Amino acid sequence: MHNITFKTLSPQSQTPLSTSRPLNIAVAGTGYVGLVSGVCMAHRGHYVTCVDINEKKITMMQQGLSPIYEQDLEELMSLNEERLNYTTDYKYAYKNADAIFIGVGTPEQPDGSANLSYIATVARQIAETVEKDCLVVVKSTVPVGTNDKVEQFIKDFLVNDIKVEVASNPEFLAQGTAVRDTLEAARIIIGTNSIEAEDTLMAVYEPFGLPIVSVSRRSAEMIKYAANDFLALKISYMNDIANLCELVGADIEDVARGMGFDCRIGSKFLNAGIGYGGSCFPKDTKALDYLATLHGYELRTVKAAINVNNDQKILLYKKACQRLITFAGLKVAVLGLTFKPGTDDLREAPSLDNIPLLLAQGADIYAYDPVGSENFRKRFPETSSEIEGEYGKGSINYVRSAEAALDGANVCFIFTEWGEIKAVMPEDYKRLMRTPLVYDGRNIYDVNKMRKNGVEYYSIGRK
Ligand code: UDX
Repeated sequence: MHNITFKTLSPQSQTPLSTSRPLNIAVAGTGYVGLVSGVCMAHRGHYVTCVDINEKKITMMQQGLSPIYEQDLEELMSLNEERLNYTTDYKYAYKNADAIFIGVGTPEQPDGSANLSYIATVARQIAETVEKDCLVVVKSTVPVGTNDKVEQFIKDFLVNDIKVEVASNPEFLAQGTAVRDTLEAARIIIGTNSIEAEDTLMAVYEPFGLPIVSVSRRSAEMIKYAANDFLALKISYMNDIANLCELVGADIEDVARGMGFDCRIGSKFLNAGIGYGGSCFPKDTKALDYLATLHGYELRTVKAAINVNNDQKILLYKKACQRLITFAGLKVAVLGLTFKPGTDDLREAPSLDNIPLLLAQGADIYAYDPVGSENFRKRFPETSSEIEGEYGKGSINYVRSAEAALDGANVCFIFTEWGEIKAVMPEDYKRLMRTPLVYDGRNIYDVNKMRKNGVEYYSIGRK
């Protein structure tokens, strides 16, 4: 018996289950979606082979290591190792699978549309290798109607005389809590166009013991976008209201609290801040807007969410520009680089919008992030202020603590609400900084406490 502790899972989710209908499952792509889904399906009793083209990643996983930073994932990989396989050999994985899940990326293209080339590659490999009837399940977020095309594409290239159907099964996992979001999901959406396909997906998900919403393929595809874009809209709405709160002397935290008690609104995702980032909301809002345009429809609400978010990301920088003559020669502390806590992911993080602006103005940046610095360094290598860098005359240094970033700083920007950053006390800013001037994009501190401790403090939607 393994002695494993989980940080995020309830007692029921921690125990592996055996199911009366275990399936042979292959999962294409071992990113956040593919790997987490594969490991969780093994935890619920299925035999899962995870496939990726990246040999380095596969070797890591074979050694029990997760290539992504995600709580409880490695522990779950270890607990279910008997039912998990990792390989680059897709033929071996696909040929006898009952179901093949596709969890590869659908990155945004310059025009906002989703790039489906990775899905097409996997679909073709499936068509050329499967040897028995199977269900292909698209987990990646794809524009409505894509599953129809994937099914036709597989049929066009099918080598053996077998039946392959396609189903839609969007996921709603958030990074940092991906394992919990999968094992304890609010609901599982399955989109199928036949009883057989529905039955196979029921066999996959019955052992999860969660509510299952079974709809048509197109509706399932739409649920994913509609849900994500609604959440993005909720955040942009709160950011819009927050900006107005500042102008009229109201406090967005109080406003959100008062709104959240109404169960028609709900208290979650009402946090105003420096805008949403990550791999989903920015991409999925643009993709739905693009899809609507293709059909001659203007999706005005989602467009508004996108516009508000674009402005929100550099709001604090603009405020700081009104207060300071220049950033040249100033030591700027940046606390938090990732798009949210609990992940090393930088995709669409507000830090990526702000740091080039600060560097171009000649700021000497001292950045701290508990896990994101290594990834950030790859895009913005450490430079010294003597060197005229690609982004202007500024410099960027990565430090190991919030205190080191704040030491002697003239101004501080907070971009991510990591626990390590929240642990910095108001008095520490006064003690450590040369001038305690703080721009907080996550409303971490009580305004009055900061003021009492002699900090000049600017946040979102609060006077
Ligand atoms: C999101 C969805 O939550 C998930 O269901 C979907 O499958 C993928 O997209 P994720 O991007 O990992 O997950 O993170 P999430 O926690 O939803 O946060 C997204 C962004 O919104 C972050 O930048 C976060 O800081 C921001 N946010 C979230 C706010 O600004 N305010 C809030 O109240 C909540």
